Amino acid sequence: MFDLTGKKAIVTGASRGLGRGMAAGLHQAGAEVVILDISDEAEATASELGASGPSVYAVKGNLGDKTERERAFQEALERLGGRVDILINNAGVHDRRACMDLPLEAWELVMEININAAYHLCKLTGEVMLEQRRGKIINMASMLSFIGGFNATAYAASKGAIAQLTKSLSNEWAGKGIQVNAIAPGYMDTSMNKDLHADAVRYPQVTARIPAGRWGTPEDLQGIAVFLASEASSYITGAIIPVDGGYLVR
Ligand SMILES: NC(=O)c1ccc[n+]([C@@H]2O[C@H](COP(=O)([O-])OP(=O)(O)OC[C@H]3O[C@@H](n4cnc5c(N)ncnc54)[C@H](O)[C@@H]3O)[C@@H](O)[C@H]2O)c1
Repeated sequence: MFDLTGKKAIVTGASRGLGRGMAAGLHQAGAEVVILDISDEAEATASELGASGPSVYAVKGNLGDKTERERAFQEALERLGGRVDILINNAGVHDRRACMDLPLEAWELVMEININAAYHLCKLTGEVMLEQRRGKIINMASMLSFIGGFNATAYAASKGAIAQLTKSLSNEWAGKGIQVNAIAPGYMDTSMNKDLHADAVRYPQVTARIPAGRWGTPEDLQGIAVFLASEASSYITGAIIPVDGGYLVR
């Protein structure tokens, strides 16, 4: 039921952090994986994850650029032999400047990567999945899909939008064999949070509010990623699933 043998996946932003964790989870469950990422780390990650089992490929591309991401998607699709069963729209950026310090261009960059690129990749992947009449799309939401956060106007707006995109698209494609869901991680220990980690005031405040008593790790997302990518979740669509050690319901 959770077996992904023979499935083909694209995971964006998987050279490190949560994306890498989820790509490793899909691969362990049997999927062939393309890591689509702007970073030079992508090649090394693909070699490490693909050292045994199905192939793992690295495709370099800047998701902040419309033309570039279309090219990168086509390259990823070619690597997978023209089929894609699973898309994880994971790549994302945060800009922690206060509203009045955040230039409009910085707002636009967060929106371009976190929501516009995700929408574009849903459309590009949708062309293939609708033809196949089968597919799994997993978007990366956040606690800031539900709450506003602090010094996070662009990020929170983009994560609110991705939750709504997930719900709306799930309705369109539910009858066509495609499930569209989102994972909403809590506070996770990755490089995105290194500034927060170093903040002597906010780090202990955040940690104290997590009922599980610890920050999440990339491994904590493997189970949910495999579940949402597999037949086990075939009647689940439009869900925004918190994986947060209980943060949201405290
Ligand atoms: N870390 C958290 O606490 C947390 C919480 C909730 C949601 N998220 C979301 O999870 C996702 C992954 O976050 P993370 O913590 O692993 O971050 P991270 O910074 O460790 O990793 C982000 C990845 O995205 C890639 N990337 C960034 N810009 C890109 C671009 N323009 N084109 C292609 N790739 C690009 C990076 O190279 C990197 O591999 C993001 O969408 C983030 O918003 C993270």
